[in-house]
Amino acid sequence: RSKMSHGRGALIVLEGVDKAGKTTQCKKLVNALIESGRPAEIMRFPDRTTQIGQLINAYLEKKSNLEDHVVHLLFSANRWELEPLMRKKLEQGISLVVDRYAFSGVAFTSAKPGFSLEWCMKPDVGLPKPDLVLFLQLHPLDAAQRGQYGSERYESSDFQKVVLQRFEQLMKDKSLNWQVINAAKSIEDLHAEIKSHSETAITVAEFQPIGKLWK
Ligand code: TMP
Repeated sequence: RSKMSHGRGALIVLEGVDKAGKTTQCKKLVNALIESGRPAEIMRFPDRTTQIGQLINAYLEKKSNLEDHVVHLLFSANRWELEPLMRKKLEQGISLVVDRYAFSGVAFTSAKPGFSLEWCMKPDVGLPKPDLVLFLQLHPLDAAQRGQYGSERYESSDFQKVVLQRFEQLMKDKSLNWQVINAAKSIEDLHAEIKSHSETAITVAEFQPIGKLWK
């Protein structure tokens, strides 16, 4: 590989409420990393291509109803089924840029009545720990300005406000490298900031073991 690097890749997660620009930024980041000689691949959760992912997809598209605990565990199972692949890529020196992870899992389910943050975190304990979690911060009013929400489950501004509060609770965990970024700026400015944080994280992670999330 270039840059004389022989260590593992970094696990970089992008989180944020809907319309913050996560998917656009994930693609731009992977392209920029590859261009600068750092092996990188994109991933996203939920990964709707697996069997579990198809159950999740039908639920999100409101083609099926699932009990709330069940769907929470399916989202987590969807991450665990990809865990061996993630670990393998990281060990091969490939950095992973991931569009949503366990933080979305906890924020969305715990925004439903009767779900504690603690219960929601349990199934994801021990997953590969991100070396960097970029939180794309966007005020609900700015999000609303970016157009209508779609018709999938969870796409309403009232629900998203509670989700944002749950994310803010998760960000208090200082054992994780959270970087909160104001997403109300141009795509290019946002990209530059994300790229700079990511390059630092890749350098720091290189010769460290892969950590375990929430453990
Ligand atoms: P997407 O639009 O990024 O594909 O995400 C699909 C929806 O699933 C989004 O509303 C967030 C939600 N979600 C959960 O409820 N739990 C999870 O674990 C993940 C990854 C996403």
